Amino acid sequence: MTPVAAERVDFGRHYDERSPITDELRDGQVHMWYWYDRRDDASLTEAVLRMTRKVTDTLGLRPGEHLLDAGCGPGETAVHVARTTGVRVTGITVSGFEIDRANERARAGGVGDRVTIQYGDFMDLSFPDDTFDAVLALESLQNAPDLGRVLGELYRVLRPGGRISLSDFSLESAREPERIRQFMAAIELRELPTLAQWLDHLRTAGFEVEEYTQCGPRVFGRKAKYVEAAMVRQRELVEKFGAPALAEFGRRHHGFFAPRRDQIGYVIIAARKPYR
Ligand SMILES: C[S@@+](CC[C@H](N)C(=O)[O-])C[C@H]1O[C@@H](n2cnc3c(N)ncnc32)[C@H](O)[C@@H]1O
Repeated sequence: MTPVAAERVDFGRHYDERSPITDELRDGQVHMWYWYDRRDDASLTEAVLRMTRKVTDTLGLRPGEHLLDAGCGPGETAVHVARTTGVRVTGITVSGFEIDRANERARAGGVGDRVTIQYGDFMDLSFPDDTFDAVLALESLQNAPDLGRVLGELYRVLRPGGRISLSDFSLESAREPERIRQFMAAIELRELPTLAQWLDHLRTAGFEVEEYTQCGPRVFGRKAKYVEAAMVRQRELVEKFGAPALAEFGRRHHGFFAPRRDQIGYVIIAARKPYR
């Protein structure tokens, strides 16, 4: 699906405004969930943590390696990965709220010496070539103003033989385009590639694709499970943020669930920068 708007969105402001509630609701993970079926009674926190595990497992991280978490959110992903694999993580985001929250979370989680979160725009990275052993882009490339350029930057900062894992939305069916338009507008998507287009983007940037999956039926397809699980937290959120802020959060996301369950896919792709 082609871009909805050519102008550049201020994603720093976008996440400064939305991440505090999402951070609370999904325990520091600003991304989608994974439920096996309607009877799966995992909490929302567990369902989003499943996605973190699925996307990071494909990196095969080893103690001492250096990971770039590109578009890191409020930090739970970086903390989880540092704790469970022993890697060093540098996370970048354009949101001031997320930088503060993520650094605080890393300190509280006892991995402040191995997790550093800083401001960084993945369109123009400040790191030298070949800096990282691995790159994670967990639902952040959807915000790229120019996907080719961002993938080029991520390729440049990875060492030869380094791995990248990304996850993001994909277009599965463009019928009823108005529903897709509303979804894209709700989260300011410029582009909604199909799985084949995601793979093309990676290969064009020079990566060798090694593994991919499309698990949309267990992700966007389980939107009813999300609504059910989020409702359980509603009172707590109203107490913390107030009813007007919560209503505004809902208004901003109006349209996100407009597509039919099978129209929005979710891809997880693992690829490698070739060895020299
Ligand atoms: C949907 S959130 C995902 C956050 C995190 N990966 C997670 O799973 O919790 C998208 C993230 O991408 C970041 N982002 C958006 N545009 C960016 C840019 N140009 N450079 C770096 N990060 C960016 C946002 O600040 C936000 O942290």
